[in-house]
Amino acid sequence: MRKGRMSVFLGIDIGTSGTKTLAMNEKGRILADAMETYPCYVPKPLWSEQEPEDWWQATICSVRKVVAKAKLGPADVKGIGLSGQMHGSVFLDKNNKVVRRAILWNDQRTAAECDEIQRRAGGRKKLIRMVANPALTGFTAPKILWLRNHEPRKFDRVRKILLPKDEIRRRLTGEFATEVSDASGTLLLDVAKRRWSKKLLSALELDVDLFAECYESEDVTGTLTAETARLLGLSTDCVVVGGAGDCAAGAVGNGIVSRGVLSTSIGTSGVVFVHSDDVKIDPVGRVHTFCHAVRGKWHMMGVNLAAGGSLQWFRNELCKADVEKAKRAKQEVYDILAAEARKAPVGSHGLFFLPYLSGERTPHADPDARGCFVGLTLAHTRGHMLRAIMEGVTYSMRESLAIFDALGVPVRQIRASGGGSRSPLWRQIQADVFGRKVVTINTEEGPAYGVALLAAVGAGAFKNVREACAATIRVVQETPPDRKAKRHYDRAFPIYQQLYPALRDDFKSIGALEK
Ligand code: XUL
Repeated sequence: MRKGRMSVFLGIDIGTSGTKTLAMNEKGRILADAMETYPCYVPKPLWSEQEPEDWWQATICSVRKVVAKAKLGPADVKGIGLSGQMHGSVFLDKNNKVVRRAILWNDQRTAAECDEIQRRAGGRKKLIRMVANPALTGFTAPKILWLRNHEPRKFDRVRKILLPKDEIRRRLTGEFATEVSDASGTLLLDVAKRRWSKKLLSALELDVDLFAECYESEDVTGTLTAETARLLGLSTDCVVVGGAGDCAAGAVGNGIVSRGVLSTSIGTSGVVFVHSDDVKIDPVGRVHTFCHAVRGKWHMMGVNLAAGGSLQWFRNELCKADVEKAKRAKQEVYDILAAEARKAPVGSHGLFFLPYLSGERTPHADPDARGCFVGLTLAHTRGHMLRAIMEGVTYSMRESLAIFDALGVPVRQIRASGGGSRSPLWRQIQADVFGRKVVTINTEEGPAYGVALLAAVGAGAFKNVREACAATIRVVQETPPDRKAKRHYDRAFPIYQQLYPALRDDFKSIGALEK
């Protein structure tokens, strides 16, 4: 048992590359963390699936490691917050067994089902009025229709449909529950009213009983079952709060809980996230409007499907020797690659990268979009390509910033977070491409930290989410833009913006070749 017996809260984030668990004390100090990875299956190009059992095993392992590392006794841990990759579909039968692997947020198989949803809703405008967002291939509702259209026998066996973190909640507590931020990404929530949209469910002929009860993010949704408490070394008094989808959870972990503060987060996906006190909707649906994890508030965000994922792909496919070298030297391979990228000049000698390796969402919702390098010459090296990837991802995030500007959403401060922002080079590229100072805060833990804070609120350690963030989060570093680099990127950005429209039809033709 720990000395002093301060209350401890766990944050568990069911990510795409792995599950991360951390333990935080009531002052917001991180006591221990652990990460367990699992595979992602790509049975066809642009499909993406995972095994929910892998998430569960990773949860058990990472929680047990954290409990051991921080020397926690069962009575220490008062609450758990859950975060996870959004939009994934866990299809359960009457015995709570999955009927197939979960289909993930970055899966692009559902273009026809998006059309079907729009048609059944009575058109795009009506759909946006019902659920604040257009139908996008990554969202959950089209996946449900895909199952009904393509695997009807499996669909007939489905009794409950859960989001990834909510499947883990079911295994922890035995409860079927979700919360407003993650539920917004199903496309089935009336985002303005913060409850399931009976209108859309009925237009899609889906029974509301297929879905879990929907809470606010800080609400208590249950306690650990005796069996899981024993398995994890915790107590049955430990509460599990709603938690949040990883974007809203990451935003809480970055203190994006009031007007004017925006975060750019580079994980597998890239997310530009801004808080909103009221429901603001992009009439053309380029950015999402979802419920925030702050009670009664909303947020808008732009999502790039392959941000850090683009660099990870390049590392895996083209830097195998460096991965080995880094392992031997006990170094981080991304540090080696960043050092190589740093040698390339601003603008990568006219080399552009379009980060559409998983299709794209913001601002071009296009499952057929493909990644490309444009402008290669014999003078280009791997360092130029690495830098061009970082620049291309950052340009695509600047497109979201430009949309927020056009919608009149105020931005006072940009907070950079996620694995990509750990790189000083990528932070500088962000400041230069955005033409604004970017800051970083005292924690780098993102979603897991955000939901540990929500657990602390739910268990009564703080009055509300804003108070929890104010007590624990502060800005520690600032990266101002370099004037010369900013001038270059201001000239290059319009060229980047022209590349997608120029290639859009070719992407469609390439897609058709593969079908
Ligand atoms: C958000 C989204 C991704 C996933 C990644 O809309 O699709 O950020 O949540 O984990």
